[in-house]
Amino acid sequence: MSISGPEDLAGLQRVGKVVARAREAMLQEIRPGVTTAELDEVARDVLRAEGARSAPKLAYDFPGWTCISVNHELAHGIPSRRRRLANGDLVNVDVSAELDGYWADTGASAGVGEIAPKLKRLLEATRTAQQKGMQAARAGARVSQIGRAVERHARSTGFRVVRNIGGHGVGRFIHEDPHVSNFFDPRDSKRLTEGLVIAIEPFFTTSATHVVESTDGWTLFTPDGSWGAQFEHTIVVTHGEPIVLTAA
Ligand code: CO
Ligand code: CO
Repeated sequence: MSISGPEDLAGLQRVGKVVARAREAMLQEIRPGVTTAELDEVARDVLRAEGARSAPKLAYDFPGWTCISVNHELAHGIPSRRRRLANGDLVNVDVSAELDGYWADTGASAGVGEIAPKLKRLLEATRTAQQKGMQAARAGARVSQIGRAVERHARSTGFRVVRNIGGHGVGRFIHEDPHVSNFFDPRDSKRLTEGLVIAIEPFFTTSATHVVESTDGWTLFTPDGSWGAQFEHTIVVTHGEPIVLTAA
């Protein structure tokens, strides 16, 4: 969506704060021994307390309040009582919700206990790429400048961009136009406009450049078993710095 006044901005800021709070609450509970179902319940409680509804449940009938993906799973992982996190794992939590007709989307990856140095670098590179993507998002610029900034950072840090999942418009639904590629697509001539609401979410891996869907019908994972990370924020495009709706 594109915001058309202060009411839209206030509504988006409310739902943005709720998903950010749920994300931070989940991150705090990440430790060896916790199950992904327990992490999901942490987010459920935050959303419920604020009167927000889980976006993946509402939009797609997803079997969880949030998506939790571990190691070579990159997105849309189903929270489970049987999935217990272990020292050295890499976990991604993705929280999106609707409140009063406004939708916001955020995500973050984190290590469980002590993780390998390469995975620490992967986390840092992906987080920085997400910030670089946001900095490239200016009214008047092409949407493809976001992917260019993200891809350049992957190259300079030695990681790879997953090419078949990316960012998107958001605000009145969870997935809206435009698609926001995480690599430079010269055919994409669309321009960013003031007030446009988008989610920027680079996925970096240690080698895979695409993900495939599990037989569970949801989970997206790397076919070569390589591990990945994602960071995501929902922003409002302006002529200057974007407004980050899902900041901590
Ligand atoms: Co998203
Ligand atoms: Co998300």
